[in-house]
Amino acid sequence: MSYKTKLLSTSERDIEYAAKLLADGEVVGIPTETVYGLASDAENEEAVKRIFEAKGRPQDNPLIVHIADIAQLEEYVHDVPQLAYKLAEKFCPGPLTMVLPKKDRIPNVTSAGLDTVGIRIPYHPAARKLILASGKALAAPSANLSGSPSPTTAMHVMNDMQGRIPAVVDGGSCPVGVESTVISFEDGRIRLLRPGFISADELSEFAEVICDRHITEAAVEGEQVRSPGMKYKHYSPKANVTIISGSSEQYVDYVNSHGGNGVYAMPFDSDKNKCRIPCIPYGDTSEEQAAKLFAVLREFDDIGAKQVYARCPLTSGVGLAVYNRLLRAAGFEIITL
Ligand code: TXA
Ligand code: MG
Repeated sequence: MSYKTKLLSTSERDIEYAAKLLADGEVVGIPTETVYGLASDAENEEAVKRIFEAKGRPQDNPLIVHIADIAQLEEYVHDVPQLAYKLAEKFCPGPLTMVLPKKDRIPNVTSAGLDTVGIRIPYHPAARKLILASGKALAAPSANLSGSPSPTTAMHVMNDMQGRIPAVVDGGSCPVGVESTVISFEDGRIRLLRPGFISADELSEFAEVICDRHITEAAVEGEQVRSPGMKYKHYSPKANVTIISGSSEQYVDYVNSHGGNGVYAMPFDSDKNKCRIPCIPYGDTSEEQAAKLFAVLREFDDIGAKQVYARCPLTSGVGLAVYNRLLRAAGFEIITL
């Protein structure tokens, strides 16, 4: 079906309108603190199928289910460890997704056939209002076309989803900028499946954290992965992205001697005045880089970049999330100087 996609505000009237669409089984682009999501009623199979269609998402990649309050958790999942409640007390609402054994009311399309489901309680006020006003738990992957960089503004969602969904709620730029930290539980330990704003260090104050190998390594063809999303080349702009690992001087020397038609640098802000080829910087601190990363990758598409040399971010704290996304954008192509 082709829609005339409406851009809605976060006014009470528009939230009511979007909530009605959700309650009726439609798909709506919604803001969250991490990235925009493509939401629909998590318990309505037809509605969830529409998300997969709108995104062009592989059927074997499960969706995260968004709820408003931790008190609702056991309506959707069972065998919740005490550790999950301790983490929720500290980090929820917020950018944390906990993978837990699902109850039958979560249909298999939502969990992509897995017997677990990722649950998240977003803190973005518009997301919370939409969950409450629709009276539904909302399944929502990032609102990009499958394979494109995640959207961090309503305009990004409009660019990808125009005609594919009835509405997008504009809640401004997403403050975090990278998707939630995804974890599962294993014998009293936490397994980090996808790094995000809540870092492994913060989690390790509660229990031992095992970092899944696929955070920094490519899955080989046909290999079983614990988080299906990790096996796809993701976040990929049209340009070829190469990560350059080295000091500021080494990076600047490298890009300055590799300029050419359609070649761009993606330096830290503090390197930008030293770059003699066209560049779009992506911040200095890991937090700034998380907030800017996807918008910058989309900008390279808009200007028709062919080759982008990105300076390798720090890999500690939130930096690990930035590095994980950039590695996928680069198809794991990294040059160490
Ligand atoms: O911040 C976010 O998490 C955003 C916003 C919209 O909430 N959502 C998001 O969803 O990033 P998505 O679908 O783009 O990424 C979900 C990731 C995928 O890598 C998926 O494979 C993994 O979480 N995942 C979801 N359910 C899972 C499960 N039951 N077991 C393992 N991994 C799961
Ligand atoms: Mg995604």
